[in-house]
Amino acid sequence: MAEKEAIMNKTMSNFHFKFMSFGYKFRDFFLPRKNILKEVGVKPGFHILDYGCGPGGYITAAEELVGKSGKVYALDIHPLAIQTVKNIASKKQLTNVETICSDYETGLADNSIDVVLLYDTFHDLSDPDGVLEELHRVLKPDGILSFSDHHMKENEIVSKITDKGLFKRARKGKMKVEGDMNDLFRMQEVFK
Ligand SMILES: C[S@@+](CC[C@H](N)C(=O)[O-])C[C@H]1O[C@@H](n2cnc3c(N)ncnc32)[C@H](O)[C@@H]1O
Repeated sequence: MAEKEAIMNKTMSNFHFKFMSFGYKFRDFFLPRKNILKEVGVKPGFHILDYGCGPGGYITAAEELVGKSGKVYALDIHPLAIQTVKNIASKKQLTNVETICSDYETGLADNSIDVVLLYDTFHDLSDPDGVLEELHRVLKPDGILSFSDHHMKENEIVSKITDKGLFKRARKGKMKVEGDMNDLFRMQEVFK
């Protein structure tokens, strides 16, 4: 119970979450998520981790791109986010979508993920370095961290993501994710 309360203290209110979800419907209409994921390089068979998935704007597009041989993990600290993704998966019969309610530990195996999506979430993390370590652990040696956060300046993003030596910058996308450009970071180490 105390653990549940501690988690709820770290999440936004249900009203704020629903308000944000409503705004994302417009974003996703004008900037379709599938085009972004295609630019990221999501392919059939990929295992994707959407870290801070929110109301699941990327889930359907990711599931369609990875196909039945792939897997989409949707992680969020907010129970409403998890419930929303579960509803989408159930309504659209997305059988290869799995939800993870957590604020940092993914519970996923080492070197198991091809692409992590970390969009509009990093600025909100209480332990950003811990999350980066966890993402580095679960990403395959040639995996990609696709990052965007319109609350942060580009140079701040680059230094915060690369400072610990876990990631190096690979390229910058051309497609707008959420008002900013899509920054991609690739694993620096081929073997951990
Ligand atoms: C602004 S929303 C972004 C949603 C989604 N990534 C998108 O761009 O459509 C940020 C999400 O991150 C989640 N979040 C915040 N802190 C978190 C944490 N420590 N661990 C997991 N999720 C977190 C929030 O609950 C929220 O759903």
